[in-house]
Amino acid sequence: MTISRTVNRYLSGGFAPVTEEVTALDLPVTGRIPAHLDGRYLRTGPNAFGVEDPAAHLWTLGDGMVHGVRIRDGRAEWYRNRWVRSSSVADRLGEPRRGTPVDPRMDMAPNVQVAGLDGRTFALLEGGIRPYELGYELDTVGPCDLGATPEGYSANAHSISDPHTRELHSLAFLYGSEHVQHIVMDGTGAVTRTTLIHTPGSPYMHDFALTERHVVLFDGPVVFSAAERATGIPFVWDGSHQARVGVMPRAGGAVRWFEVAAGLVGHTLNAYDDGTDVVIDVVRHPAGFDIKDVGLSRPTLDRWRIDLAAGKVREDRLDDRVQDFPRVGSRYVGRPYRYGYAAAAELYAPPTAPGDPRPHEGFSSALLKHDLVRGTTEAHEFGRFGAVGEGVFVPAESPAAEDDGYVMAYAHDAERGAADLVILSAQDFTGEPVARIHLPVRIPLGLHGNWVPGGPRGDRP
Ligand SMILES: [Fe+2]
Repeated sequence: MTISRTVNRYLSGGFAPVTEEVTALDLPVTGRIPAHLDGRYLRTGPNAFGVEDPAAHLWTLGDGMVHGVRIRDGRAEWYRNRWVRSSSVADRLGEPRRGTPVDPRMDMAPNVQVAGLDGRTFALLEGGIRPYELGYELDTVGPCDLGATPEGYSANAHSISDPHTRELHSLAFLYGSEHVQHIVMDGTGAVTRTTLIHTPGSPYMHDFALTERHVVLFDGPVVFSAAERATGIPFVWDGSHQARVGVMPRAGGAVRWFEVAAGLVGHTLNAYDDGTDVVIDVVRHPAGFDIKDVGLSRPTLDRWRIDLAAGKVREDRLDDRVQDFPRVGSRYVGRPYRYGYAAAAELYAPPTAPGDPRPHEGFSSALLKHDLVRGTTEAHEFGRFGAVGEGVFVPAESPAAEDDGYVMAYAHDAERGAADLVILSAQDFTGEPVARIHLPVRIPLGLHGNWVPGGPRGDRP
């Protein structure tokens, strides 16, 4: 445990939680919002509701708060931020609990992902923590059974939607279990197929990858530790645990495991089949990764090319600048692709060390656009206190190329002391933003989100 005992970096600077829920209508805009955009940009993250012991506070255990902007007809109609009402959050707010109660051990305000599916909105976590359903305006409906299976697994934060089959895939783990479960859902979220997979040592599997023919698993040296249960994050780095990548047919069957260098896959950029090869691009944390202090890590963009015919794997570094939150256009998930997006922290990252109390003022200071064919990267810089979040690619109305569209993200405007929803042209990535939607409040550094097209249910044909 290397969290500072004197100053907790996750309670100050860009990470500091906000204390108010805000509703703001008809937001001011600099530039022009593309007229065809009709939907919501949603992003979530940990936002602790009161902290009893600041010195021991772990960022990723903070209660989930979703920040959303509704866009339609070239206007930003509203901004809302709302805590997910888990039983605990509802109790502390003095509100009635929402929905049907669930096992208290599986009840927490999900803080990793917010996503739309079939006109519904879900807040997601992992490890068997139950997903919550939200209303269109981010009010909490209640806990739900998205991806729930008889074995106790449920849809996890990094579920992957296949744009070609409309299937939704999850690779779900449970704390302490030596199995993970591959869960396939249809376009409505109904479970259609499951496969249990043996994973000795109970590795922490935050993300996975999907290709046209395969499911790809990342077995890394961050493993379950019962001794760490009391911290709320019962995982530790175990250098004796061999890092492996597993490849399984999408329909289920045996997993072929390939040993790789020590490191932990944080997030998948994309993966695809290339003949008898499987190509997997990931953001990977270096050996020694401390899961309780994620902001200290210096992950890079790496590629594995697995030759299934020869049984060999080749590892390459695609980009060694520190980055995370990799994203690809949704139409290219699991298919050959050229462009990827990520948030970078290299420009202003201080030379932190374990125990260094300085705030992570550089955590996510730029958005990156990778051209994986040319091997080049462009950076759109947001400055020292930019606090830019995950960049989500949204296609143009009739896209003529893979990168014909926009990248949307929350970024901090240091002059106003509040956040903007920034819309970049993906094809003019370093140019002036197409639009900056000015929000009335600060948005803390957070985790994941999505552009969710469409209006409230019944609002559209
Ligand atoms: Fe994640």
